[in-house]
Amino acid sequence: MTTLDLEHLVQPDKVHKSVYTDERLFELEMEHIFEKAWVYCGHESQVKNVGDYWTVQIGRQPMVMVRDKDQVVQVLYNRCPHRGVQLCGNQSGNTGQAFVCSYHAWSFHLNGKVRAIPLMKGYDGTALKTSDPDSSMVPAARVKSYRGFVFASLSSTGPDLLEFLGDAKVAFDDMCDRSPMGEVEAVPVMHRVVQKSNWKFFMENQLDALHPSVTHQSTGVAARRVEQRLKSDNGSAPLFFHYLSTFASSFDQWDSVQTVNFPHGHGILKAYMGLRPTDPDTVEYEGILKKAYGEEKGEEYLGRSIHHVLIYPYLSVQSPLQQLRCLRPISASETQSEIWHFRLKGVPEAIYQRSLWYFNLVNSPATMINADDLENWTKAQIGLQSNGGEWVSLHRNYGQDTEKEGVLYSNNGTSEVVMRNQFIAWKAYMLSAQSPNPV
Ligand code: FES
Ligand SMILES: [Fe+2]
Repeated sequence: MTTLDLEHLVQPDKVHKSVYTDERLFELEMEHIFEKAWVYCGHESQVKNVGDYWTVQIGRQPMVMVRDKDQVVQVLYNRCPHRGVQLCGNQSGNTGQAFVCSYHAWSFHLNGKVRAIPLMKGYDGTALKTSDPDSSMVPAARVKSYRGFVFASLSSTGPDLLEFLGDAKVAFDDMCDRSPMGEVEAVPVMHRVVQKSNWKFFMENQLDALHPSVTHQSTGVAARRVEQRLKSDNGSAPLFFHYLSTFASSFDQWDSVQTVNFPHGHGILKAYMGLRPTDPDTVEYEGILKKAYGEEKGEEYLGRSIHHVLIYPYLSVQSPLQQLRCLRPISASETQSEIWHFRLKGVPEAIYQRSLWYFNLVNSPATMINADDLENWTKAQIGLQSNGGEWVSLHRNYGQDTEKEGVLYSNNGTSEVVMRNQFIAWKAYMLSAQSPNPV
C-alpha cells in the first residue's frame, strides 16, 4: 500500500467504505495495530494461583496468560516449539507446575522455558539445544500491568504502557478508586458475542451520542414509563430502571454531553448516570469510601464525570459501573467481543448488585440495548459491502471542536469528532508500517 492510498481512504471528514470491508486492510490492521499496540489480556485475578492460565487472542496470535511460580503474570505464545501444537486447548484452567504438550510431552516451566523433553538422548549430536530460545515457548515482547489489568505488546518498540494509555488510564483509576482497598476483582462469568461487523463500528458506537435516543428508544421509553409509574405509586423506583430510561434522553440532552478525544484514538464520554442516590446502601458505601480516603479524595473519586472510556482500538470501559468490553477481531466483517464486569473489593454486596444489574440489563447479549446495537452494526456491514456508495460521512460538527494540546474536545456531544479522532490514530498506525518510527 502506498501513502497516497491511505490519504485517499481516510480523509479528515469522510472515509472510504473499504476500511470496514477489505480483508487486505484487515490483515494490515492486525499486523500494524493489534500486533503492535498494547493489547488488554485480562485481569490478574483471572490467574490467582500459580499455574492458573487464561488463553487470549492478540491480533491473529493465540496467547496464554499464566501466573508463574514467582507470582509473575506471563503472556506467552500458546505454541509448542517442537512441532507447533497449541499447548492450552481450553479457555482457562490450572496447568500445575508446567505446560505439557499433548503430542510428544515436551514440557515447559510456567515462564515458558523448556523443562524436559522425552528421550533426550535422541537429540545427541543434533543442532537442537535446550539452551536455545527456539526450544522454549516464546514470550510476548512486552508485558505490563496497570492496577491489576494486564496488557501485552507483541512489539519490542513503541511507547510504554502508561505513555500509550495517556489520560485514558483514568478508566482503571476510576474503577479501582471506587473500592476502599483500591482494587477490583474480575467476575469470571464473561459473555462472548460474535458481531457480524467490522470492529470499528463497535469503537465508534461507544461514544456516538446521537444514536441512543433512536436505536434504544423502544427500550428506554418502556423503562421510563414503568419507572415513572413506580415513582408515582411508591415514591421511588429501583436504580436499574434508570440504567435503561436514560437511553430515552432527547437529542438535545445527548448533544449537551461532551466527548474528550485523546491521542492514540482513546476518548471519554463524559456525563454521569446519577449513581449517587441516597438510599441506605449508597450512604453506607460512600461512608466507607470517605473513611478510607478522606472527605476530599472520596468526593473526588465518587464525583468523576465518566460514562465510557475508550482505549483504542479494542476496549470500552464503563468504570463507574465496573464494566469492560474487549474486542478480538476475527475478520473484516466479524468481531468477537468479551463482556466483563468486576467486583469492587471491600464494599457492601448491594453495590456489586448494581454492577451485575447493569451487566445483565445493558451489556449482556440478552438485553435489548445490546441487541439493537448489534443489529445496526450488522446492517451497516451489509450496506457498506454494497455498491450503493463509496464513502462514509464523518462531517457532523467538523471544524467546530476545540483542540487543546493534542486533545479534541467536542462542543456538541453528538459531534463525529470521536470517529474522526479514531481515524487519525488508525491512519498513523497504518502509515507507521511505511516509516521506521512506530506510533
Ligand atoms: S508438538 Fe509438542 S511435543 Fe511435539
Ligand atoms: Fe447503543
